[in-house]
Parts: sequence; structure tokens; C-alpha cells
Amino acid sequence: MFSKSLISSVVLCLGLVLQASAHAIITPALGIVGRDAIRADVQRPAGPTAECGTMSIPDNLDTSTAAIADPNGIVNLTITNFNSDVDGSRMIVEAIVDNMATGNFDQAQAATMLVNGEFNPTDVTSQPLSIQLPAGIQCAGGAAANKCLVSFITAGDFGNCVVVEQSA
Ligand SMILES: *[C@@H]1O[C@H](CO)[C@@H](O)[C@H](O)[C@H]1NC(C)=O
Repeated sequence: MFSKSLISSVVLCLGLVLQASAHAIITPALGIVGRDAIRADVQRPAGPTAECGTMSIPDNLDTSTAAIADPNGIVNLTITNFNSDVDGSRMIVEAIVDNMATGNFDQAQAATMLVNGEFNPTDVTSQPLSIQLPAGIQCAGGAAANKCLVSFITAGDFGNCVVVEQSA
């Protein structure tokens, strides 16, 4: 016989596992090079100095595929969810820009969402996203001093960083 409390612990754990398996990633993602992003690549942005989750910024900034901003600061990206419903939401609720790309988002400025994804998707697929960098921002990170780091958080509280390169 299982006790009631054991059963409720199992149910609680199952709930946590299901919740933790709900993810969405924004690509090109910091640190994911030469392959498709998978569920395990998804991060949980966690505050001004951990906006890229556990992904190392110095190790990946210059080797990651950068998204290119057009002269108006517009950047096209893709969001892919691995689970349906709000936990796998493809809607961005926060997009902030670290213009020095050091990973300190204390002074980060918000990007504008021009095209956002679905809040409560019933499917598992990819959707285009489009953002506009803050007016007048100067991306100055990386070896070529032309990179910003953008941290995204979804309505499901997942996300990751994307390297954005400003055209000259
Ligand atoms: C972003 O996508 C829009 C719509 O498809 C397109 O018109 C625009 O040229 C793209 N911009 C960039 C910077 O890729």
C-alpha cells in the first residue's frame, strides 16, 4: 500500500518534471553552433547577471552565429517550442539588450517586439520573431566590437541569449 503522502509526492514530482520539460528556444542561440537547437539547450534566464542562464558568454560570444541587425536595428529570429501550452509559449515577454555583450544586463535596454509568437500554442513548431534594437544603441561587444547580447524570456519563463551584430 502506498501512503497518501507518497502518492501526492509522486504526483507533485511528476508535475514538476512536466513543467521543467516545457521549453522554447530563440535562434540563432548563444553557444549552439553547427546543429539544430534541442530542448536541453533551453535556458532559464535568471536575473541581471544570469540572463543567459548557464551558458558561458566569453566562451561563446565570438564563435556563435550572430543574427544581423539591418540599418534600422531590425533583427529577424526564430522561436521553436518543444511543448505546447503556456509552458511552451512562443511569446516573448522580455527582450533586453546588453550593448557591451559582457552578460551584465544591469544597464540593459528593452528591444521592441515587432513580430511576436503565440502565447498558448497547441502545437510544437517554429515561428518567426522580429525585434528592433533600442534607437541609437551602439553594439560594442566581442572581438570586432560590433556585438550586442539580447536576452529573451518567454511567457513560459524559458529563454536564452542571442548574439546580434550591427551592420557598419
Ligand atoms: C525581416 O523579415 C522581414 C519580413 O520577412 C523582411 O522584410 C526583412 O527584410 C527582414 N529583415 C532582416 C534584417 O533580415
